[in-house]
Parts: sequence; C-alpha cells; structure tokens
Amino acid sequence: MERHNKRYGKITGWGIYTPPKVVTNFDMEKNWDTTNEWIVQRTGIQQRRFASEEETTAFMATQAALNALEKADVQASEIDLIIVGTCLAEDFTPSVACIVQSAIGAKNIPAFDISAGCSGFVYSLSTAYQFLSTGLYQRILVIGAENLTRFFERSDRTFAVLFGDGAGAIVLEQTDQPCGLQGFTLGADGSGQDDIRLNTSSGLNRFDAGHLVQFNGREVFKFASRILGKACDQALAQSNLSLDDVDWIIPHQANIRIIQSAAKNMGVPIGKFYINIDQYGNTSSASIPLALFEGLESGRIKPTDTVLMVAFGAGLTWGACVVQLAPVLNPQLHPAQHSWA
Ligand SMILES: CC(C)(COP(=O)(O)OP(=O)(O)OC[C@H]1O[C@@H](n2cnc3c(N)ncnc32)[C@H](O)[C@@H]1OP(=O)(O)O)[C@@H](O)C(=O)NCCC(=O)NCCS
Repeated sequence: MERHNKRYGKITGWGIYTPPKVVTNFDMEKNWDTTNEWIVQRTGIQQRRFASEEETTAFMATQAALNALEKADVQASEIDLIIVGTCLAEDFTPSVACIVQSAIGAKNIPAFDISAGCSGFVYSLSTAYQFLSTGLYQRILVIGAENLTRFFERSDRTFAVLFGDGAGAIVLEQTDQPCGLQGFTLGADGSGQDDIRLNTSSGLNRFDAGHLVQFNGREVFKFASRILGKACDQALAQSNLSLDDVDWIIPHQANIRIIQSAAKNMGVPIGKFYINIDQYGNTSSASIPLALFEGLESGRIKPTDTVLMVAFGAGLTWGACVVQLAPVLNPQLHPAQHSWA
C-alpha cells in the first residue's frame, strides 16, 4: 500500500571501540589446551581483543557512540533514541543504553537494550528503522557492544578461543532521499535455547558463577550454516532485490567455515563477504558494526554501496537486512526502495 510522507534513514556516522589488549592464538595456548594451528584451521581466528576491568560493555559502547557522533557531526543532544544490542552487560539493570545516554550527555530520550545473542545489532538496526520510518524519531544511535571474555575463566577451550570484545555504533538519520533499509527478516527458534547458554542463575557475582557456559558448538555450526543463506534470501525477497544488487554481504563473524559453507550453498563468491574474523574473533553483537566501520574507513565498502547484513546467535536467533547506504540516482530502478519507507 502506498504511504504518504515517505521517510528514509541514512547511516551518517560510524564509530568503534576495540580494547588495546590484543590476545593472539599463541597467547591462548598458554592458558588453554589448544594450538594456533587448531584455532586458525577450525575458525579462521588469529587474534582477538580482551577488555580490561575498566572497559565495561557500557564504556566501550560509549566510546563507539562518541566516535560515530563525531563522524556524523551530530551532537548528543540531537539524538532521539538509543538502542544497544548486547548479550549480557555487567548489570542486569540499568541497561547499557541508559548508561550510554548519560555518558554522552543526551537527556530524557528513550534508551533500551536488545538481547538477541549475536543477532543483537541486526535486531537493533531493524528496530531503529521502524521508529524512523514512522517519523517518530529523526536521529537514532544504534550500537552493538559486547564484553564476553570475562567469562573465560570458567569456560572450556572450545568456547574460550572463539570470542573477543569490542563495540561498534552508527548514527541513523532521517532523510527524504530514498535510501536506507530495503527489507529485513528477523527470526528466533527458542527450541535451540540450550545450544548456547550463559547461565548466571547460580550466583550474582558472575565471575564466581558455576556451570556458566553451556555450549553445543557443532549444533550451532549446523544451524548457522543453514540459516545464513536462508535469512539472506528472505531479506532480499522483502527488498525485491537479488544478490546481484548487493555489493557486500556483511555476515556475523563467528567462524570462517560457517561463512565459507554459506557462500558455497548460496553460490556466491567468498569475496562478496566482508570478513575480519581473523583480527577480532567473534565479538557477538559488535561484529557487524565493526566490519561495516572497517569496510567504510578502508574504502572497500563505498558510501553508495548496498550491503546485506546477516547474523545468527544464541536463542537461537537470526536476522538479515538490506541497506542502501546512499540514495540512488534513479529510484525507478529500485522499486522496493519505497516499501519500508
Ligand atoms: C566451536 C567450533 C569451532 C568447533 O569446531 P568443530 O570443527 O565443530 O570441532 P568439534 O567440536 O567437532 O571438535 C573437534 C575436536 O577438536 C577438539 N577441540 C575443541 N576445541 C578445541 C580447541 N580450542 N583447541 C583444540 N582442540 C579443540 C575437540 O575436543 C574435538 O576433539 P576430539 O575429536 O578428540 O573429540 C565450531 O563448532 C563452531 O564454530 N561452532 C559455532 C560457533 C558458535 O556457536 N558461536 C557462537 C554463536 S554465533
């Protein structure tokens, strides 16, 4: 149905924060019964970042947000809404988003977290676009931030080698020029809840909590390899676009073999996937904004590109969204532009 007063959303700023502490696979060998060779071959990871005690989820989210605001040349006081995708922050409450709001100096605007495992950023971005397209909010901060490595003291090698810490943020601004979200899909299958569980019920001090990590990596691997292509197909169908219309697929960076397997199933050259898992490991909700930032800053992703972001994670959850980063010159060529506006 044709709607009036179409509103579009453009990503005008992007920023990240990654802890300075780099932990290589050789460093991991010192504390776990693992090898660089195993980690590289089975996951594609070479190194990751470990947050210090001061580098909380909210701290990293705040730094990423400030960088994104600077890039967008937007003041914190101009932001209408803050959404943070995060698995589990240091506090049950307040939300990371509320801490970020205060830290950046925004006042009285709504702020909330979205918990969707590693799909947190795609869930948050898709949600942000809904508020934007209705015209309710004009400038939204969307953040993915995670600090998972603090659980490693109690986790086994299978889990510990996979993850890293970091945060990425974007500023989304309303525009009347056609661009932004073309289509998306979100999903969850709670019957897979036991495949990844970070169980904090046994103690308030999470560092002392027993039986913290429950993880069935093989099941998640199979699920992820299957759902990645399916979610991409659904988001493209919603957009009335095909893979040929997409310049980059930015997948959640969980395991290079998951991405390779999905690429093969989808019949897409691996070079179309933006991959940086070797540098950061799996940073959960932060992985897609980290990759987007890196791609844009390096010039590999062009400001006019169309990107397909796709994620999966604990829950089990998944999500994919097609985003046209800048207005196209001839909107007639992209009739689906209007369906989400
Ligand atoms: C976890 C994961 C890397 C394991 O890879 P895999 O190829 O499935 O490996 P397996 O679990 O079959 O284990 C193979 C062997 O390696 C061993 N192994 C597991 N972790 C190891 C490590 N860090 N170092 C060395 N050996 C390891 C296992 O004990 C097993 O040994 P065995 O054959 O003697 O029993 C892979 O399943 C995965 O990436 N899963 C999804 C990741 C995920 O869930 N991310 C979070 C949500 S996005």
